[in-house]
Order: sequence, then C-alpha cells, then structure tokens
Amino acid sequence: RGKRAFIAGVADDNGYGWAIAKSLAAAGAEILLGTWVPALNIFETSLRRGKFDESRVLPDGSLMEITKVYPLDAVFDCPEDVPEDVKTNKRYAGSSNWTVKEVAESVKQDFGTIDILVHSLANGPEVIKPLLETSRYGYLAAISASSYSFVSLLKHFVPIMNPGGSTISLTYIASERIIPGYGGGMSSAKAALESDTKVLAFEAGRKHKIRVNTISAGPLRSRAAKAIGFIDMMIDYSLENAPLQKELTAEEVGNAAAFLASPLASAITGAVVYVDNGLNAMGVGV
Ligand code: NAI
Repeated sequence: RGKRAFIAGVADDNGYGWAIAKSLAAAGAEILLGTWVPALNIFETSLRRGKFDESRVLPDGSLMEITKVYPLDAVFDCPEDVPEDVKTNKRYAGSSNWTVKEVAESVKQDFGTIDILVHSLANGPEVIKPLLETSRYGYLAAISASSYSFVSLLKHFVPIMNPGGSTISLTYIASERIIPGYGGGMSSAKAALESDTKVLAFEAGRKHKIRVNTISAGPLRSRAAKAIGFIDMMIDYSLENAPLQKELTAEEVGNAAAFLASPLASAITGAVVYVDNGLNAMGVGV
C-alpha cells in the first residue's frame, strides 16, 4: 500500500511545501494538501486552469496528482475559537470546516488514516520589525501561527496516523544564531518549534510510534520569504559563504523530507536536519 501524506502550508508552486509534496509524490505517496483559507480560491483556480502543470511534472514525466485540497487556518483549533469578524469575513465565509480539529476529522472521514504529516507554514505579522520593537500581539501571533500550529496539528492528526508514521516541519537557523531582519518574534517561534520537535518526538514516539523531525532549511525565494524583504541578500550571503557554493533548490529540501518520511530514516526522530548547503557549520564568512 502506498503512503498517504497531508501537507499543510501549500498555496502556490514556489514554496517548500509544494516541493515536499512533489518529492513525496515521486516516491509514490498520495498527496492531500492543507491550504490557508484566504489563499484557497486562487490556488484551486490556478490548479484547475493548469497554471501549475509545468511544476507538477515528476521525474518520470507524469504529473503530480493532488487527491484533495482542504481549507485550513492553523491558528484556530476548533469552531468555538473563531472570532465573529473572521467567521463573517468574505474570504472565510465561503469555506467551512477549516479549523485544525475539523480538518483532521474531515481527513479521517475521507481517508481513515495518514502516514506522513508535513507542517510547512509560518506567519509573523511583525516580521519586518526588530524584536526590540515587536509588540506582545505580534510576538504571540508569530508563535501561534508558526509554533503552536505544529503542536495543534500533531495533537489532532497523530490519532489518525498509522504507527511508524513520520511528521516534519520547516525551521530556520535564526532560532539559534543572530539573523538581523528575521524579526517580529519569528526567531523565537523557530526556537520554540525546534524545542517542541524534541518533546513531541518523545511523546508521539512513546505513545504512537510516530517520528517528529524538523528541517532547518537555507534561504528560498518563496512568497513568505519575499515578504520578509531580505531574501535576496540571504541567498547571496549563502552563495558566498556556504561550503557548497550553489543556489539551494526547493527540490533539495523536498528530497530530504522524503528521506525523513521514509523507512530509510526509521531511527531518526527529534532531530533538526540542516538542508542549507552547509552554511550552518561556518563560524565566519569567507
Ligand atoms: P510559503 O509562502 O510557500 O509557505 C508558507 C505557507 O504558510 C503559505 O502557503 C501560507 O498561505 C501558509 N500560512 C500562513 N499562515 C497560515 C495559517 N494560519 N494557516 C495555514 N496556513 C498558513 O513559504 P516557505 O518559505 O516555503 O515557507 C514554508 C516553511 O519553510 C515555513 O515554516 C518557513 O518558515 C520555512 N522556511 C523558509 C525558508 C525560506 O527561505 N523560504 C528558510 C527556512 C525555513
């Protein structure tokens, strides 16, 4: 039987989530996506109109099949948590069952179980502000969307994951080293995500034989990264200073994720795996 993967955080064909979906599909997995509610309409329309067909091509020439796209907003756990202004917002009112709990229930109803869970999402409304100028609201919003969202996904999806299953998130080295420009509490959010990776590896491992890992990825010109504003500088910096002087492709991160999700990685859990051309290992720029 092929494996079934749920990938949260895909709304176009530029980001890490899309590349991970492709690598998993190339390895034979069935693909389910969770797409942020406000981005759902344009993503599904583009998908239907064939706008992504070129980027759907797999190594064997076939096109990646996406079995189902679920609307998702990972900052809300259940309908009771959704404030009135969001409920009635016209970008949300057209979709239903998009809180984490409801999405897990829908996936269970539709497919029963999954084997692989990928968290490829982050949001920090004040990311362009230095930490010292970040508001409490901005900081907590970054943690809610970028860190607790992973805890919540695991909480609701682990019960429908087959034993031996694997979960993966995406992190960034700004959690452990100073990366000026990665503000708004996003560095704090990634630190929380990495620490939680260890604790959740213990809890989900003992209870359900599920593995939990995170990929610390190098810079990629995704939609989210472009919003931060310093992505071209970070790509140039990596090109100049990393042990491997080549641009990092999303596909390389996708392939690492496919490895971590596979039985080849059956003893790897609680790990932060660097997929960054080795930049993390440098002590000085040269
Ligand atoms: P992306 O823009 O492709 O992915 C971010 C996704 O998160 C988007 O699809 C967005 O719609 C979704 N999202 C935001 N808030 C959400 C919410 N409340 N509920 C559900 N979905 C929500 O950008 P990218 O860069 O591929 O990001 C994926 C992951 O990779 C993130 O965790 C990011 O921090 C991480 N990462 C990115 C790096 C980069 O240079 N692009 C470097 C290291 C890590």
